Amino acid sequence: MKFSIGLLSLPALIAADGIQFSRTINSLADDSSLSLKFDSGCASEDDYGSNDCSFAWGSEVSGSVDANLGHDLADGSTFSVDLKLDKFISWSFSCAACGANCTTSVPIVNQDVNFAMPDCPITADGITQAFDEALPTDSPTKGVKVTATGTIEVKDAAGDSVISMDIDATVQ
Ligand SMILES: *[C@@H]1O[C@H](CO)[C@@H](O)[C@H](O)[C@H]1NC(C)=O
Repeated sequence: MKFSIGLLSLPALIAADGIQFSRTINSLADDSSLSLKFDSGCASEDDYGSNDCSFAWGSEVSGSVDANLGHDLADGSTFSVDLKLDKFISWSFSCAACGANCTTSVPIVNQDVNFAMPDCPITADGITQAFDEALPTDSPTKGVKVTATGTIEVKDAAGDSVISMDIDATVQ
C-alpha cells in the first residue's frame, strides 16, 4: 500500500495515512502538571508538551511524559470520553478511573474494548518516563478516514475535574 502510493508520489495521501491529532487542555487541577513530549512528528509545543502531531502507521513514536498528580484518585473517580466520530456519530462513555475494567464499543469499526484501569487509589505522585513504541503497520480503519472531536475528562471522587481536554483527531 505504502509502496504503491510512494510510486505514484502523492505526498498528500502519504501524510494522511496514519494518525493526526491536536489537543487543547481546558483545565488541569492546580496541584497537578502534565507535559507529554514526542521526539518528532509534531508541529507545535505549549506548556503541556507537543501538539499538532502526525504519525504514519508503522512508524516509531518516542518521547517522554513528565506528570505530577497532586492528590490521590480514590474509588469513585471517573474517566469520561465524549466524542463525535465523523462529526455526528456519538462515542460517549464514562468509566471508573481506577479499580475496575473499562468497557466500551467503538462505533464505525464496531470494536468492543475491555481494559483494566489501575488499582484504587491512584496515589498522588510524579512520573517521568520515556517511551518508544511502534504504531501498528496497518490502519485500524482499513484506510478509511475517520475524524474524532470532543472532550476527555478525569474527575476525582469528589467530582472535581483533574484534567479536561479537547481533542481533534483524524485516523486513516
Ligand atoms: C479486564 O480486562 C483485562 C484486560 O486488561 C481482561 O484480561 C479481563 O478479562 C477483564 N476482566 C473482566 C471481568 O472483563
